[in-house]
Amino acid sequence: METINTTIIDYQHYLTATEIAVIEHEASIMETREAAGIEALKVVQAHRGWISDESLFAISDMLVMPIAQLEGVATFYNLIYRQPVGQYVIHLCDSIACHLTGVDSVLVAIKQHLNIEYGQTTADGKFTLLSNACLGSCDKAPTMMIGTEHYQYLSPEIAVDILQKLLAKGEVNG
Ligand code: FES
Repeated sequence: METINTTIIDYQHYLTATEIAVIEHEASIMETREAAGIEALKVVQAHRGWISDESLFAISDMLVMPIAQLEGVATFYNLIYRQPVGQYVIHLCDSIACHLTGVDSVLVAIKQHLNIEYGQTTADGKFTLLSNACLGSCDKAPTMMIGTEHYQYLSPEIAVDILQKLLAKGEVNG
């Protein structure tokens, strides 16, 4: 990972009033301001799509939290994105039960359909593909998560169909 620079970001200038209000509320119900770190990251990501270095510094400033500690939280929590991601982030399960039930063929189908590898985003910015540790539905493997939705009993055809439907939905909504 790149070393982030040591620029000080004044959170009051960088974060929006809405972001500050929600983060302040989270901090107020925690024992310490630092304990609101993960919620603050989620709030900023919900508004901006991902967590840039500037966002990290602004949250660190607001919560009076060491930047290294906050970055550790962001790195540990795999639903916090430290790079720009697509509109839909596919978390494909990469653990044992899914491997035993054919996730490899699902992965091949998704890669071919989207023309991307793990860690990449499609040229149109619609999909990012990431691997994920067990998603907790081993009895319904293979599985993936996109946003808050969990998809189970995947086959290559079912997975591609899900992506096509999401794309069609996005085009209708967009
Ligand atoms: S191994 Fe894939 S959901 Fe548990």
